[in-house]
Amino acid sequence: MTDPLDLAREKLIVALDYWNVEDAKKLVRDLGDEVSFYKIGLGLQLVGGNELARELIAQGKRVFLDYKYYDIAETVQRAVAQAAKLNVTFLTVHGVASIMKAAVAGRGDSDMKVFGVTVLTSMDADDISEMGFECNVEDLVIARARKALEVGVDGVIASALEAAELRKHASNKLMIVSPGIRPTGGARHDQKRVATPFEAIRAGADYLVLGRPIYAASDPKAAAQGIIREMADALRPD
Ligand code: C5P
Repeated sequence: MTDPLDLAREKLIVALDYWNVEDAKKLVRDLGDEVSFYKIGLGLQLVGGNELARELIAQGKRVFLDYKYYDIAETVQRAVAQAAKLNVTFLTVHGVASIMKAAVAGRGDSDMKVFGVTVLTSMDADDISEMGFECNVEDLVIARARKALEVGVDGVIASALEAAELRKHASNKLMIVSPGIRPTGGARHDQKRVATPFEAIRAGADYLVLGRPIYAASDPKAAAQGIIREMADALRPD
């Protein structure tokens, strides 16, 4: 049986939400072999994010490009095809059917996995009501996950709070990546729908994304190790 700690390490994605690639590279060096999967988002996109992705992949790391594409189908298809050429492992688009469909077409036969963002974990019922949705957050997440399954994307980005419900509706056919993870007793920052690493894994999330709880910690490596231990505990049978 695979050691739960090794399995947990495979499932941890660290968000490189920095202002520049130098700081991001420093964190990657500091975390060493403890972390093998990194998320590059919009904050680095215009300051060398794509080159950083190439560099990390050359070092044997996996990269999740979190650019959350939202545009007309033609443009999304083109953008996704370009991302696939970078050899990144995961890419996000918004969880709207036409966009996800275009992303699947753009991905073609590459190995890159495409994820639909259901509802941002920084949003709550008031936010989605302001967007014009007359339902609760969970219903919107489930509806979008159903669409994701229908159009053939590989997974969804959803809070761990919805992961268990998603598993019921989408069985194991959709991968679930959950941001908004806060270690027990940690600060919530701007995240509204949060869960601990233990809760998220138990709820059925396949991968956890953590940013500030690791990169803003006084000792990021120790913080990552603590989170990996919490995830491993959840992977062990009771
Ligand atoms: O620092 P923190 O752990 O809150 O970072 C979470 C990361 O996950 C950020 O990079 C954020 O952009 C991303 N994310 C999210 N909610 C989503 C999708 C992505 O917080 N639904």
